[in-house]
Amino acid sequence: MPRELPPLDVLLPLDRSGTRLAPEHGEPALHDLYAHPAPAAGRTAAVRANMIATVDGSAQGPDGRSRSINGPADWRVFRVMRAVADVVLVGAGTARAEGYTPLAVPADLRAARAARGQAPELELALVTASGALPEGLRGTHRPPYVVTVPGNPRLADLRAELGDDRVLVAGDEAVDLAAALAALGDRGLTRVLAEGGPRLLTDLVRAGLVDELCLTTSPLVVGGPGLRAVQGPEWLEPLTARPAHLLHADGMLLGRWVLGSAG
Ligand SMILES: NC(=O)c1ccc[n+]([C@@H]2O[C@H](COP(=O)([O-])OP(=O)(O)OC[C@H]3O[C@@H](n4cnc5c(N)ncnc54)[C@H](OP(=O)(O)O)[C@@H]3O)[C@@H](O)[C@H]2O)c1
Repeated sequence: MPRELPPLDVLLPLDRSGTRLAPEHGEPALHDLYAHPAPAAGRTAAVRANMIATVDGSAQGPDGRSRSINGPADWRVFRVMRAVADVVLVGAGTARAEGYTPLAVPADLRAARAARGQAPELELALVTASGALPEGLRGTHRPPYVVTVPGNPRLADLRAELGDDRVLVAGDEAVDLAAALAALGDRGLTRVLAEGGPRLLTDLVRAGLVDELCLTTSPLVVGGPGLRAVQGPEWLEPLTARPAHLLHADGMLLGRWVLGSAG
């Protein structure tokens, strides 16, 4: 485990407030706080979204990416959220901007993963209409799943490159995300960690597919034209967000919010 990870102070829930969580081999306390939810009744997947935003709401920093707004506290919970998921779902824009490569579960988190009966490999599923994969996901020993639309001009090439089973087609102009989650669920991938970006997360939220949002608030104010975690030209039917917990380290606030219908 990297040594530079900071302790996290629990602010919420109130009955655990004041507890300090020092970094530990295997991170048992964080496994408790970040247990991946089970699919709700009638659902094929449980979707947790994980995002970071500045105090003024930007999901991007001045470098146009999230790298310049995150830090070690966010990294500490990020690695646990990945380790408890079956699959990371990401928009192709993010995979290209952030240079995604095949994912690996950190060594100190593998035993707990095996004890839960999860496969050792953490899968990656990329959502794209264009089929333009980042270089780091091409020609690898572990190809990603690519979730795409029937009109993708690169469909035949993707099937040849990745294998038929790795290319999931759902939707029309845009990927039908409910169908995509069902196809991943058919492959046993029901614990889904959605890592953005804003376009994909907005589509997921709009389709009512996100169970919870883990949102880190980075102690920066950046102004600028940055995207928000969820945004779009139209208002959503408001969802409620109930805080399941709130942690703090180095000015960063790490929240886990359970989403629900306001109605
Ligand atoms: N702060 C954070 O936590 C965080 C997290 C992730 C990303 N980011 C930042 O957000 C920026 C990227 O934002 P973004 O909104 O463009 O990201 P995005 O959603 O990852 O990428 C958009 C692209 O993903 C594909 N896509 C997403 N939803 C789709 C759908 N329903 N159907 C078909 N294709 C879909 C399309 O790819 P094609 O173009 O290939 O068709 C689309 O152009 C980057 O700067 C990244 O660093 C921040």
